[in-house]
Amino acid sequence: MKIYKQYSKKPIRSFKDLIGLCIVFNFISIFLLTLSACCNDDNALTTADTPYELTLPANFPPPEIPDDNTLTDTRIELGKKLFFDPILSRDTTVSCATCHLPSKAFTDGLPIATGIHGRVGFRNAPSLANVAWHPYFFREGGSPSLETQALGPIADEFEMDNTVAEAARRLRADPAYVELSQKAYEREPNAYVISRALAAFQRILVSGNSLYDQYEAGNENALSSQQIRGKNLFFNDLQCATCHVGFDFTNYNFENNGLYTDYTDEGRARLTGSTTDIGKFKTPSLRNVALTAPYMHDGSLPDLQAVVEHYNSGGTNHPNKNPKIEALNLSPQQQQDLISFLESLTDSTFINNPKFR
Ligand code: HEC
Ligand code: HEC
Repeated sequence: MKIYKQYSKKPIRSFKDLIGLCIVFNFISIFLLTLSACCNDDNALTTADTPYELTLPANFPPPEIPDDNTLTDTRIELGKKLFFDPILSRDTTVSCATCHLPSKAFTDGLPIATGIHGRVGFRNAPSLANVAWHPYFFREGGSPSLETQALGPIADEFEMDNTVAEAARRLRADPAYVELSQKAYEREPNAYVISRALAAFQRILVSGNSLYDQYEAGNENALSSQQIRGKNLFFNDLQCATCHVGFDFTNYNFENNGLYTDYTDEGRARLTGSTTDIGKFKTPSLRNVALTAPYMHDGSLPDLQAVVEHYNSGGTNHPNKNPKIEALNLSPQQQQDLISFLESLTDSTFINNPKFR
């Protein structure tokens, strides 16, 4: 079964496609609701399990965690094991980490993600840092929660090309998985367990200890004078922080930042069918951005220099382009300052955290 229509290469063009999409989403929601309805002790932790305390940087608000998937040590352990295990893919060659590598802040370094049998998908793999705070997932916002999202890649023919039922069957044949699954969710591995455990693991991927954060916390030596000049450009002189705003450097809005006059991937419009949404994509967080090249939804900009040149030029004249994207006339020195500031958003404690690898 194809779980996500909008996850496939084919754009959603017709009303029929959209109806199809709604039916599929309803099906998934009903399926997940039924699963949770059958088990009325969902909020209760199993006695064998220990609640997990998320440690958050001082300026991060607490994330919303669903009542039926509170964080526990075993849920996270199981989710981590699943995340790094190619067992979920049809031919056991691809894991979540194939496209979301810890060393690259959970991206893959490729313009377009490549899945099973070298099949090239249609979008650039985004970072998973701080996904606990995202109000919706995918670049056009087509998935409402981490729990729902997790089943998408398993079924996608360009990623793992498996069925969730087959993935669960394999896990039930593995005593280690059965034990973890029982301890974490008091049942054998199934779609409920896989989706929730993967979501639980991803919620602990918190990144907020870059040199920039250390500077903001009072360590005046954390940033170089060039980085401080770049920071002032970013927050004060330019409009960057109207979209890349707040503790995670994103307004979570869908914006057209003037990449193209004609978008092959229409972004948000694939979901809404509205022409005013063409070329709008979820504003990405800029945390660890120096590690997540190449950039944009299609990986078309190879490095930060290219990104800064894009914004400096003001982009195209697309009717949906946000008017805040305009020619900047930055000197070569100012461009370097801006790049140097973006580099200060790398959090080495995040990529080296043994809990995440
Ligand atoms: C073949 C590469 C590939 C594999 C394997 C893969 N992903 Fe992804 N992932 C992507 C791409 C590409 C996107 C962006 C898709 C889009 O926007 O339509 C994405 C998006 C996501 C998102 C949404 C992030 C956001 O900012 O909205 C999450 C969460 C995620 N993946 C988790 C996972 C998990 C969990 C697995 C394993 C079950 C997985 N991925 C396997 C390539 C991959
Ligand atoms: C109108 C909102 C908006 C403004 C203003 C804006 N951006 Fe962006 N930015 C976006 C969106 C949306 C994307 C993703 C576009 C896509 O996926 O194709 C993006 C992508 C990026 C990326 C690539 C991130 C990645 O992981 O692919 C960087 C770096 C970036 N912006 C930096 C900046 C800088 C620096 C400025 C100021 C000069 C700026 N942005 C101004 C909305 C904005």
